[in-house]
Amino acid sequence: MNLAEPRSLFPVSRRYAYLNHASVAALPTPVVTAMDGYLQEQSLKGGQALEDWDERLEGIRQEASRLIGAHRDEIVFTTSVSHGLNLVAAGLRWQAGDNLICAETEFPANVYPWMNLQRRGIEVRFAPARANRILVEDVVSLMDGRTRLVAISFVEFGTGYRNDLAALAEACHERGAYLCVDGIQGLGALQFDVRHVGVDFLATHAAKWMLGPIGAAFCYIRRDRMPLLDPVMAGWRSVVDRDNYYRYDSPLRPGGERFEPGSLNAVGLVGMAAAIDLLLTLGLDAIESRILELTSYLIAGLQARGCTITSPIARRQERSGIVCFRHPEVPAPELGERLCAADVIVSVRGDVVRVSPHFWNSEEDIERLLAVLNGSPTGWRKPGGSTRQLTEGPSLPRVIRPPAHPPLLLRQTPN
Ligand SMILES: Cc1ncc(COP(=O)(O)O)c(C=O)c1O
Repeated sequence: MNLAEPRSLFPVSRRYAYLNHASVAALPTPVVTAMDGYLQEQSLKGGQALEDWDERLEGIRQEASRLIGAHRDEIVFTTSVSHGLNLVAAGLRWQAGDNLICAETEFPANVYPWMNLQRRGIEVRFAPARANRILVEDVVSLMDGRTRLVAISFVEFGTGYRNDLAALAEACHERGAYLCVDGIQGLGALQFDVRHVGVDFLATHAAKWMLGPIGAAFCYIRRDRMPLLDPVMAGWRSVVDRDNYYRYDSPLRPGGERFEPGSLNAVGLVGMAAAIDLLLTLGLDAIESRILELTSYLIAGLQARGCTITSPIARRQERSGIVCFRHPEVPAPELGERLCAADVIVSVRGDVVRVSPHFWNSEEDIERLLAVLNGSPTGWRKPGGSTRQLTEGPSLPRVIRPPAHPPLLLRQTPN
């Protein structure tokens, strides 16, 4: 299969220029077929359909581990990024006075699990974003002898900045800290190998770039870090002798399964496995190259129309599948609406439009977006004003800053 062929596997392409993978994937047909097959089987056979479930689950675990270069024992099936990060946050044995470092521009899924530790006397420090980049030296300058962990995204959701995870991992390990990564905005789009990068913990979710269903997710825990985590949830599936229902002294499973207390989202995981299979068949190197080719095409088109690219794009290694921009005249929410009306699907994040094409998108999809920016042949007509042709805009990205937060305290709901 080459990269052009799979467009036909994405029915969404019949109507939409779907450029919104940083939000929710449009499911490809092999994923839907796999889930449908599973549901049909259960409908015809009930529990008999599950007879080989443990074997199938093992196949899915192997598939997930292949995607990130891990060992099957290091995979924990979860339902979301939040679920995976909470396993790490709640499971680590913190001491009051420890601290951890997060960053500005992180999605809240990677903030609240850490702020929730404040009740245990843990300090959460925020690295600043400079020109939408989180610099390793800024993270390092916040570290001290009590820093236990750095929690950061592979790719920042609102800027597309690809963090330098390898450098962060090195900085952490030199200082006796761990690196915990929210992988959702990169995995499935960009090449990634846990061994090369050196992360200790990672949580992801199939529903975006991995092209899988919502609610199918997994977490990676480096094998030698596994004993550092208390299993905050235990159940019948987390123990070795799980089919011996009246035995209550079975030890915990040695691998990541110990963090899976009960039955899993079977249909979701079947879909996720089909999605990973598609990604691995095509190859993440080819997928990444194609995405960067499409984003380059997009960036050139946007710049020619005077838009400001707010995503850091100076170096290839800081780029991702996400491109954010501001139009010189039309505010992002209005532009988002105009694009949606033209069946061009993107997201609006703050004052920028976020575009996120996947490998199966085409230059024509991007042209559909650019055509909306062109407006009428004479350009955008300002209400009551004159018609302006778009010109080259300022090229410096504006920094997106979340509202000032210190002191950041996760508040208790009053009883
Ligand atoms: C960076 C990032 N992390 C996490 C999530 C989602 O978290 P969860 O899987 O917990 O719903 C999103 C978007 O929905 C995201 O952009």
